[in-house]
Amino acid sequence: MRAVTWHGRGDVRVDTVPDPKIQDPTDVIVEITSSGICGSDLHLIEVMAPFMSVGDVMGHEPMGVVREVGREVTALKAGDRVVVPFNISCNTCWMCSQGLNSQCETTQNREQGMGASLFGYTKLYGQVPGGQAEYLRVPFGNTLPIKVPDAPLDDRYVYLSDVLPTAWQAVQYAGIPQGGSVLVLGLGPIGDMCTRIAKHLGAGQVIASDVVPERLARARRNGITVIDTTTQADVVAQVRELTDGRGPDAVIDAVGMEAHGSPVASALQKATAIVPDAIMAKVMTVAGIDRMAALNTAIEAVRRGGTISLSGVYGGATDPLPLMRMFDKQIQLRMGQANVWRWVPDILPLLLEGDPLGVDDFATHRVPLEQAPEAYANFREKKDGAVKVLIQP
Ligand SMILES: NC(=O)c1ccc[n+]([C@@H]2O[C@H](COP(=O)([O-])OP(=O)(O)OC[C@H]3O[C@@H](n4cnc5c(N)ncnc54)[C@H](O)[C@@H]3O)[C@@H](O)[C@H]2O)c1
Ligand SMILES: [Zn+2]
Ligand SMILES: [Zn+2]
Repeated sequence: MRAVTWHGRGDVRVDTVPDPKIQDPTDVIVEITSSGICGSDLHLIEVMAPFMSVGDVMGHEPMGVVREVGREVTALKAGDRVVVPFNISCNTCWMCSQGLNSQCETTQNREQGMGASLFGYTKLYGQVPGGQAEYLRVPFGNTLPIKVPDAPLDDRYVYLSDVLPTAWQAVQYAGIPQGGSVLVLGLGPIGDMCTRIAKHLGAGQVIASDVVPERLARARRNGITVIDTTTQADVVAQVRELTDGRGPDAVIDAVGMEAHGSPVASALQKATAIVPDAIMAKVMTVAGIDRMAALNTAIEAVRRGGTISLSGVYGGATDPLPLMRMFDKQIQLRMGQANVWRWVPDILPLLLEGDPLGVDDFATHRVPLEQAPEAYANFREKKDGAVKVLIQP
């Protein structure tokens, strides 16, 4: 089959790789019809590169049609349409039963000291082949795939794999009081979806910051108050002005470590050196190359006694936090990979009824598999209005 494969920093290609096969009796093989490119995929071709191998199949936001089922699979049959969560979780262990699917005890990577395996995501998380491919082997066929109706188009359901539960969890963890205020840092797919969900769940004031014009325009069209800068002093001043001088009840960091550093300190220079594009240069010059820039802004911006919710991924083992400031401001901090299945019962009914979150036209680009390398480049450099790209093999 054809698949998007990792070849190095900034280098993905489309290669012919062996077709996946049923290995365990509860496996299913899914023919992929849509597969998102995520901000997390950018980490893999930047700061997380040391944890990848040449030929790794990328992708963790897939959906498609079941083509083959193992002999113990009773919940699905060939022809069923499914979305595949990015966490590989059994949905039956103690952690999964607590709604902590990203900590699944069946797939935890204990030798790495890390949580549940993820599709298409580094040696730290099991090095499992991903879903930017024609076919995907999915374990736990009775409990992991999310069965969805045959209509409408993929766009309605595909974000159940990651964007929707990630943004939903970020908003839940933010604990915004009814009618309260939230600042969302970053307007990539995750931040954009956080603004929509926060409004949907009753936030009174939704403010967001970024520097990419198309992303700001999209949020503005949805009635979000946007701050067109990532400079900490400006964001803090502007958001205080909008919130009676106090700061918002909650801040969601939907930026993460971006390209501003590396979990391996020695890779720092390499990581920053390979981001030549204008946007990242702008982000770096206004926000600094400090990979904690967004988190530090969140700490300054949030009101005293408020909550910070991190959905952006951080990778540093020894990142310093201003604990005196955090303690004094009485900040609550919640974070983690999204526990996809924890939120499916809340989100799926909304998608079955209609499109209150605007997912049907959320994608800015839909491309065939062979054009994936170009699509990655556009998404990475935030060119051509690329906000959300779906690969459709
Ligand atoms: N927790 C999870 O389960 C989970 C799931 C998916 C993605 N993520 C993470 O969420 C983050 C966002 O993902 P995405 O797909 O939206 O990525 P993205 O790279 O498209 O979006 C990040 C946005 O942040 C902006 N930005 C950079 N520095 C900023 C700053 N200091 N202040 C404000 N904005 C700034 C960028 O211009 C960009 O638009 C990534 O770190 C990704 O790894 C986490
Ligand atoms: Zn993702
Ligand atoms: Zn489990």
